[in-house]
Amino acid sequence: MTVKEALEFAAAYLAGRGLRFPQQDAELLVISILRRDRAFLHAHPEFELPLPDESIFHQWLNKRGEHYPLQYLRGKQEFYGREFLVHPGVFIPRPETELLIEIGMGLLGQSPEGRVFAADVGTGSGCIAVTLACQRSDLMVTAIDVSAVALQAARHNADVHNCLDRIEFRQGSMLSVVKERRAHYHLIVSNPPYVGLQERSRVDMSVKKYEPREAVFSAESGLAAYPQLFEQSKELLRPGGSLVLELAAGGLQPVVLLGQKEGWMLNQVGCDLAGIERCAVFQICSSDKIF
Ligand SMILES: C[S@@+](CC[C@H](N)C(=O)[O-])C[C@H]1O[C@@H](n2cnc3c(N)ncnc32)[C@H](O)[C@@H]1O
Repeated sequence: MTVKEALEFAAAYLAGRGLRFPQQDAELLVISILRRDRAFLHAHPEFELPLPDESIFHQWLNKRGEHYPLQYLRGKQEFYGREFLVHPGVFIPRPETELLIEIGMGLLGQSPEGRVFAADVGTGSGCIAVTLACQRSDLMVTAIDVSAVALQAARHNADVHNCLDRIEFRQGSMLSVVKERRAHYHLIVSNPPYVGLQERSRVDMSVKKYEPREAVFSAESGLAAYPQLFEQSKELLRPGGSLVLELAAGGLQPVVLLGQKEGWMLNQVGCDLAGIERCAVFQICSSDKIF
């Protein structure tokens, strides 16, 4: 089978299975299996897939036809220029979450202690915790998740990216596992589950079927995680510290209202490439800035 034949066959098969971007998926499948780039596919349509690769191609195509995520087939996903191991049980990092890194890094000043403390609540693959630690060598991060499977992947990713010694992994719900650390953190970041069960029918089949439910859905409204984050972060952030939260599309207003009830003020909003508000920064209204 040539590259051209593989691409045409895969695109037609995936279109028939109801995939939204069959052409793009077909290219990614062939690129991943051959470990070549897109330019190679277009420059060498006559290239014959080696037999072992052709067999993997058929296996992966069948799985993708069942809407199984390509990232789980490849076992990795890129985030902020680094590769992260992902597999079933671990949420796949999304490009819009890179906004939290940009904004979080911009909020961190220098600390007189020489060390800066951050927490990543719902760390998943560890993409936020590991990226922050890689970007700043004076940063100590607490990475929290309810899922032992996710924490294991996050620990692996921290090891691969050489920051295992600056990330502490804690299993538990939200910030309750560090509740004794009053006024400890300069920054608390979270991309919590925020899809409402009421929106389930509109969620992509590959997400619904294969990504961990507790990573995606949060009660009927999708808002259940935010009140806990607001309540717990108040005690744990230093004066002047910031809480950085990812939002669902259309989630800004309800989340701001939840924050206001707990005395938080919206300080900054970040939009994704489509102009959708995806990231909100909160501070406590009465903070005296010391950081
Ligand atoms: C949307 S995923 C985000 C994962 C990763 N931070 C990212 O941005 O790709 C949400 C994560 O929160 C975790 N989670 C869900 N409920 C939690 C809770 N009550 N406490 C801590 N983590 C929770 C899930 O296991 C999942 O890994």
